[in-house]
Amino acid sequence: MTTTPRSARKPLLALTLSLLLTPLAASLTQATEMTVFKSPTCGCCTDWVKHLEKNGIHANEEVTDDMASLKQMLGIPANVRSCHTGVSENGFVFEGHVPARYVEQFLKELPAGAVGLTVPAMPMGSPGMEMGDHFMPYQVLLLKQDGSTALYADVKTPADQ
Ligand code: CU
Ligand code: CU
Repeated sequence: MTTTPRSARKPLLALTLSLLLTPLAASLTQATEMTVFKSPTCGCCTDWVKHLEKNGIHANEEVTDDMASLKQMLGIPANVRSCHTGVSENGFVFEGHVPARYVEQFLKELPAGAVGLTVPAMPMGSPGMEMGDHFMPYQVLLLKQDGSTALYADVKTPADQ
């Protein structure tokens, strides 16, 4: 197939644009499902779950006393760990306060050789770590199958998340 009649192409483009422009886009597509493992005492984990829900990702909390073993099993290196660990229904890992937009972006792109994303530690002002106007720039890292990491997104301002 080489050309598409103009009449057939135009409505599709219009539909694509309207999906990009409407805040309801997330509810029109199938919601991403995620299980979020957390310790019994973590509060910021629950706030991250709320952030996901607000952004169209359906998250279920799963409480466990042994987060360290879970992170070990999932292949999250000790130096890039955070509090909670999210696992998408298709088995990718989202460690710590990763903004929903990068979760969605990752799941759309599925970068080769990657097992997920992490925001190490708990940067002030990241989703679920809101403290007034305080914001600490941070990086979202790509977790790779070989245990290494790479820069995925530089979050310099609150607008980047
Ligand atoms: Cu936290
Ligand atoms: Cu947490």
